[in-house]
Amino acid sequence: MPRTPTDTLAPEALGISPDFPETETDFESLAERALSRRGFVAGGAVFGAAAFVASAGALRPLSALANDSRFGFDPVPANTLDTVTVPKGYRWHVVVRWGDPMWSNAADFDPETRGTGESQERAFGDNNDGMSLFMKDGRNVLAVNNEYINRNIVYASGKPETADDVRKGKAAHGVSIVEIARRDSTWSIVKDSPYNRRITADTPMDITGPARGHDLLKTAADPKGERTLGTWNDCGNGRTPWGTYLACEENFDDYFSSSDPSLEIGPAFDRYGIGLKDRGYGWAMTDERFDIAKHPNEPNRAGYIVEIDPLDPASTPKKRTALGRFKHENAEVVLAANGRVVVYMGDDERGEFMYRFVSDGRYVVGGDNADLLDSGKLFAARFADGGRGEWVELTPEATGMASAAEIRIHTRLAASAVKATTMDRPEWVAANPKKAEVYCCLTNNKNRGKKPNAGGDPTPVGGPNPRAGNLYGQIVRWRPDGGDHLANDFAWDLYVVAGNPSVHSDANAGSSNVTPDNMFNSPDGLAFDSNGMLWIQTDGKYTDKGGFAGQGNNQMLVGDPATGEIRRFMVGPKECEVTGIAWSPDRRTLFVGIQHPGEEGNSHFPDGGDSLPRSSVIAIAREDGGRIG
Ligand code: FEO
Ligand code: CA
Ligand code: CA
Ligand code: CA
Repeated sequence: MPRTPTDTLAPEALGISPDFPETETDFESLAERALSRRGFVAGGAVFGAAAFVASAGALRPLSALANDSRFGFDPVPANTLDTVTVPKGYRWHVVVRWGDPMWSNAADFDPETRGTGESQERAFGDNNDGMSLFMKDGRNVLAVNNEYINRNIVYASGKPETADDVRKGKAAHGVSIVEIARRDSTWSIVKDSPYNRRITADTPMDITGPARGHDLLKTAADPKGERTLGTWNDCGNGRTPWGTYLACEENFDDYFSSSDPSLEIGPAFDRYGIGLKDRGYGWAMTDERFDIAKHPNEPNRAGYIVEIDPLDPASTPKKRTALGRFKHENAEVVLAANGRVVVYMGDDERGEFMYRFVSDGRYVVGGDNADLLDSGKLFAARFADGGRGEWVELTPEATGMASAAEIRIHTRLAASAVKATTMDRPEWVAANPKKAEVYCCLTNNKNRGKKPNAGGDPTPVGGPNPRAGNLYGQIVRWRPDGGDHLANDFAWDLYVVAGNPSVHSDANAGSSNVTPDNMFNSPDGLAFDSNGMLWIQTDGKYTDKGGFAGQGNNQMLVGDPATGEIRRFMVGPKECEVTGIAWSPDRRTLFVGIQHPGEEGNSHFPDGGDSLPRSSVIAIAREDGGRIG
């Protein structure tokens, strides 16, 4: 059934030609500023954008940009307050928190016990991350990832001790799908909505695509390798033009352990971080599929993108193996001009890769698009110095692997085989709705230039990863040749190199669009609004000391892709990460995720007093009721 997506799709996705001519103006001007500044060139780090430096006439000083800005707000100073700070003329409120019951017959959140397995199965999960808003018949349905749990908050003793503790922990993971409604300018959840659904680490799912039925996916409980249970550690997200939600499994390895301490860990498990020791979740205590000594194929059944129909609570989620198995961050879906579905994805670990999927089938409005993500080509990115790069297809010939199925299961090893470029932890990818241009946060990488990745691939300093021991992160962007997302060749540059110009005068000061007034570290969440402005969320160091002095709590900023100007829009409460972003259909509300406030024990967000901190989705609106992006 055709759906009405409420977020903006790339114009190509809607069958509209991109309304921006393919000029090089903004790439050139940013490149020029980056190159002319702070010792990047002198230090030997070559920005790929050098290839674009041609027309100095395109360059405008940042100070000249204030009068014609597209921001619509005054920047917010950094701070370390235990609340959310938004610009003058804006306000915010909490929509939903970890533990809020989604049905009226479910128990209210109990701050003493912090809930039970049963109450958590009927309540909003913990650590909300990526999210999308869907609309049907005038009703708004929010799908939200619940990435992991803060054990020191979820459990009074700080760790799971009983079977019910594990049940609660598993139920606090996954995805929460909840109807929300606005009354008197305030959004809240609609209890008992027929759309409300909890997807947890135990929800039945189908395994689809090339790896379905492969020997590496067969287990005692599923001898055919076609059906599995649950999703966990879903980080960023995606949404499709046909109205489905994509949850992206990231650090899935953290939940496995071995009852046999002498079990040998092979290179494939090693590459994905699968190890012997329990990392604190304790799931193998009650569910032996998390014991790799007993069920050695179980870890091969996690690390995928899960497609969910948020408007059909009876639907079975599908693990789409065609998109590969790695520590997925998000999935940015665009449509190529011929209707093929292109999905850009990052693998968030130090020295891992960036990927592109291109569907075999074509999207047809109102057609049967249900399984477009089951068959297609998978590529990994290779960046060259000098501002050029290419997508290299992961085929049996190129990788030396036996089949498409094996490539989809051991995707990291396949990408290593084609010598893809090791990146500084690719987080969210976002495509500009105004032109064929894609951005990815490379959040940080202390190992850059010092240690290889987990597969032994070198991590040389250079290209889109220009700093050794990268503490602050950067945002890379690329433009496919001919403005065609199917093109295998692209041009790239760095949109911003984060840093601290108040402390450093070398490359750690950041690129020229970083100032003492807008500085930040560790860009992570990323999304474009309908005006083509780039929203940047951070998951960085919040010490506000040393190299991070003056940067305050984690935050959200807005960047103008054309000028490079970046302004801080919001500051989160203490010890949170800001992650997850969605707009209401009328663009008058911006929903933002506040994840793990007080993860070190120093926040009472959002309820104040001496309350327990709780991850929350908040709504931000203008006081004059105007649009936000
Ligand atoms: Fe869950 Fe890469 O952040
Ligand atoms: Ca993230
Ligand atoms: Ca992160
Ligand atoms: Ca996080």
